[in-house]
Amino acid sequence: MNAGNKIIIKSVSLDDARLPSVIYGAMGNPSPEKILEVIGSYKNSDHVIIGAFIADSLVGILGVCKTSKIITIRHISVPLKYQRQGIGTLFLEEIKKRYEGYKIMAETDTASLDFYAKSGFTCREFNGPYGNLRYKCEFNL
Ligand SMILES: CC(C)(COP(=O)(O)OP(=O)(O)OC[C@H]1O[C@@H](n2cnc3c(N)ncnc32)[C@H](O)[C@@H]1OP(=O)(O)O)[C@@H](O)C(=O)NCCC(=O)NCCS
Repeated sequence: MNAGNKIIIKSVSLDDARLPSVIYGAMGNPSPEKILEVIGSYKNSDHVIIGAFIADSLVGILGVCKTSKIITIRHISVPLKYQRQGIGTLFLEEIKKRYEGYKIMAETDTASLDFYAKSGFTCREFNGPYGNLRYKCEFNL
C-alpha cells in the first residue's frame, strides 16, 4: 500500500453511480439489467453492502447476506488497479469484526482461491454448473 493512501471502509449508497462498475467485477459478464437487479437485492434487510474508499474514489465493494449465524459473501470486488494492496483483506477483517461469532462463507473460482486460503478460510472444491471448478470456502470464528 502506498503510504499516502488512506483506505476507509464504510457503507455505500445503492444509488451511488460508481457502484455498477465496481460490483461488475464480481459478476462475470453480466448485462446492465442484471447488475441493477443485483444492486436492488441489497435493499433486503438481511443484506449489507459496504465500500472501500480512497479519498473520493470507490476502490472496492463487499456485499453479504446475513442469517442467524452465517454471513455469506455474495460479492467482493476490487478493481484491477487497486488489487493486491490489502483492500480485500480489510473487507474480511471488517466483517470478522462486525459479525463476531458468525461463520463466514463464500463461493469462488480458481482465480480467487488463494485470496480466501491466505485469509484463513478452508476451501473445498466442487464442480460448477458449466463444468468449471468452484470452491466453497468457510471461515469459523
Ligand atoms: C479477490 C479480490 C477481492 C482480492 O482483493 P485484493 O484487494 O486484491 O486482496 P488483498 O490485496 O487483500 O490480497 C490478500 C492476499 O490474497 C492473495 N491474493 C489476492 N488476489 C490474488 C490473486 N489474484 N491471485 C493470487 N493470490 C491473490 C495474495 O496472497 C494476497 O496477499 P499478497 O498480495 O501479500 O500476496 C480481488 O482480486 C478481486 O476483486 N477479484 C475479482 C473479483 C473476484 O474474483 N471476486 C471474488 C468472487 S467471490
